[in-house]
Amino acid sequence: TEMATMESLIGLVNRIQRACTVLGDHGGDTALPTLWEALPSVVVVGGQSSGKSSVLESVVGRDFLPRGSGIVTRRPLVLQLHKTEPGKQDYAEFLHLPQKKFTNFSMVRKEIQDETDRVTGKSKQISPIPIHLSIHSPNVVNLTLIDLPGLTKVAVEGQPESVVQEIETMVRSYVEKPNCLILAITPANQDLATSDAIKLSREVDPTGERTFGVLTKLDLMDKGTNALDILEGRAYPLQRPWVGIVNRSQADINRNVDMIAARRREREFFVTSPDYGHLAGGMGSEYLAKLLSRHLESVIRTRIPGIISLINRSIDELEAELDHLGRPVAIDSGAQLYTILELCRAFDRVFQEHLDGGRPGGDR
Ligand code: GDP
Ligand code: NA
Ligand code: MG
Repeated sequence: TEMATMESLIGLVNRIQRACTVLGDHGGDTALPTLWEALPSVVVVGGQSSGKSSVLESVVGRDFLPRGSGIVTRRPLVLQLHKTEPGKQDYAEFLHLPQKKFTNFSMVRKEIQDETDRVTGKSKQISPIPIHLSIHSPNVVNLTLIDLPGLTKVAVEGQPESVVQEIETMVRSYVEKPNCLILAITPANQDLATSDAIKLSREVDPTGERTFGVLTKLDLMDKGTNALDILEGRAYPLQRPWVGIVNRSQADINRNVDMIAARRREREFFVTSPDYGHLAGGMGSEYLAKLLSRHLESVIRTRIPGIISLINRSIDELEAELDHLGRPVAIDSGAQLYTILELCRAFDRVFQEHLDGGRPGGDR
């Protein structure tokens, strides 16, 4: 069916993206880097402790990210979600530990922390070197999500003064890419006029086509105030509707409140709220996850012709490159190029079958 084809195409795109990551700079003269750029990803942007990591976790529906007050996320985390067959067990894998399958997600969190410390030391230093993690589960949508350190205005103890600029440069290098959807995260208990997320998104995406405004911490607003002006799109109109979120509080995290309980409570918060009840259908983490996957699907749909031609170019170039590599040097690169070639062919095949199915180009 249409849905299944879309899913397998997106799945293949994800795998090509991952194979390109493993390959690193090799293949720099081919269409592969352009192919990578053509594929969409979702980046979370916002101030420190605005709730970025919490929102990402909710979108994924699993607990696995380090969260907390202060600067917790200190390296970019490139998170690839791979949808697997129903009934299959969830597992996670790091690019830096290729042989190890994690089924315990609290160990995933620990490994992210350890791997962060390995590069930055146990200080509050940051590093632009990303950690690559993939999660395989029947309950996720095929999607690449990127968690980043929070924008900040002052260095804290243990950080050089340059950290403020370094973080901004790092964040900018991700959100500038036209293929990137921006989740601009702002906490509702702060003045939106000072939101770094909104400021930066406006700069890199002036028409607001790829920016999703997310308002967290609605539960922490002062009594007697509400965020209707924002959520109803009057105060800071964006091209896309604002989504309000209630993540787990620090006390919830300390008490190990699980994702399912947290989502239930978030739903109740909106449904029973005298202020937000009428908006409840368009609020919350589950809604945000659906909104994103629907949007990504339509982005990929419109990009398919471009992706197809890049893939065909890649196939030609990879075949030439492999002919050329027909000697025992760079065996790893050769194997990786071969994998990408196979994936590209698979993409082309699924797409052709889809066309033969009678609906040229789908319902674009
Ligand atoms: P990040 O630094 O932007 O990645 O933010 P985190 O996701 O690590 O969250 C920072 C802190 O804010 C944690 O203690 C979270 O529990 C808390 N927090 C995040 N979102 C909410 C929310 O919607 N409501 C409440 N009460 N606390 C939140
Ligand atoms: Na934080
Ligand atoms: Mg974080």
